[in-house]
Amino acid sequence: MPQTTIKKELDTNKILEKQQLNPQVKLLKIYAPTIAQKAQPGQFVILKTHANSERIPLTLACWDKYDGTITLIFQEVGYSTTELGKLEVGERIENLAGPLGKPSEIEKYGKVAVVCGGVGTAVAYPVAKALKEAKNCVVSIMGARNKDLFILTPEMISVSDEIYFSTDDGSKGQKGFVIDVLKTLVGEGYKFDLVFAVGPPMMMNAVAEVTRPLGIKTIVSLNPIMVDGMGMCGACRVSIGETIQFACVDGPEFDAHQVNFKELVQRLKSYQTEEKATQCSVLTGEPCTCHP
Ligand SMILES: Cc1cc2nc3c(=O)[nH]c(=O)nc-3n(C[C@H](O)[C@H](O)[C@H](O)COP(=O)(O)OP(=O)(O)OC[C@H]3O[C@@H](n4cnc5c(N)ncnc54)[C@H](O)[C@@H]3O)c2cc1C
Ligand code: FES
Repeated sequence: MPQTTIKKELDTNKILEKQQLNPQVKLLKIYAPTIAQKAQPGQFVILKTHANSERIPLTLACWDKYDGTITLIFQEVGYSTTELGKLEVGERIENLAGPLGKPSEIEKYGKVAVVCGGVGTAVAYPVAKALKEAKNCVVSIMGARNKDLFILTPEMISVSDEIYFSTDDGSKGQKGFVIDVLKTLVGEGYKFDLVFAVGPPMMMNAVAEVTRPLGIKTIVSLNPIMVDGMGMCGACRVSIGETIQFACVDGPEFDAHQVNFKELVQRLKSYQTEEKATQCSVLTGEPCTCHP
């Protein structure tokens, strides 16, 4: 085998860059040339940090097919994301599968609102960038609990014709939620041809209820629990209208007006006791007794 091929294989999945974007969110730039070559907006990877780790899905926030890198941005919410966040530059992710999922449907719609909350901005950015490249007028609405929690603000500004911010505490932009900004813009006469929303399920549900009576096509990127990412285990089952779909192969993007958000929220809670117990034992170093 040529030396360059051996080196490429040894370096695959190696972390080249690590950044802390805010107290809860980290960025990893990883050498993964095969994934970078094929990646498209809206797609994701499923990774295992170590050989015995759980598999977790993370969106491809950025990629560069020329230098063979992909960028993942993730919030440390539980055991697996915290474990991933402990890896340092030079270390390798044990297993990285992708790109998975259907790419976003990018075309020239006209005026598009990109609505994102918290770490959802990492999912929204590649979609907003592609929509801008397709000559849409992109109006971005970004929300966070406070001004210190925004991520990718310069990147989102660079792909937006207009950008608005909301914070729960009013420390940046409009006080309140992204949905309030969307309602304000619609009330002022903005005519959107498409709304793309990503964030917590209740936020996406609220966006869907604003756009439904106005008949605005609305796409959401869903985040159900995933295991294999291949359409075989059924973990990511979501109800879309009268149909059952698997978000890993049929999504993760769906028509917001057809999504059963109540069921999505319920299914996300399926392993809450186990997730809390794992968090407890990680914090205390002892088996958890409070979440039996
Ligand atoms: C297609 C897809 C793309 C995703 N992209 C990103 C991304 O780019 N960045 C990012 O930070 N996260 C992303 N997620 C969510 C991420 O996969 C979960 O946060 C992660 O699996 C949690 O694992 P954990 O062991 O750290 O936490 P757990 O212990 O499993 O969970 C901790 C807490 O997070 C909640 N949780 C667990 N899984 C999810 C989930 N899928 N969505 C929302 N809440 C969840 C649990 O209910 C619990 O309250 C994505 C999910 C999907 C399905
Ligand atoms: S993750 Fe198993 S079917 Fe989608």
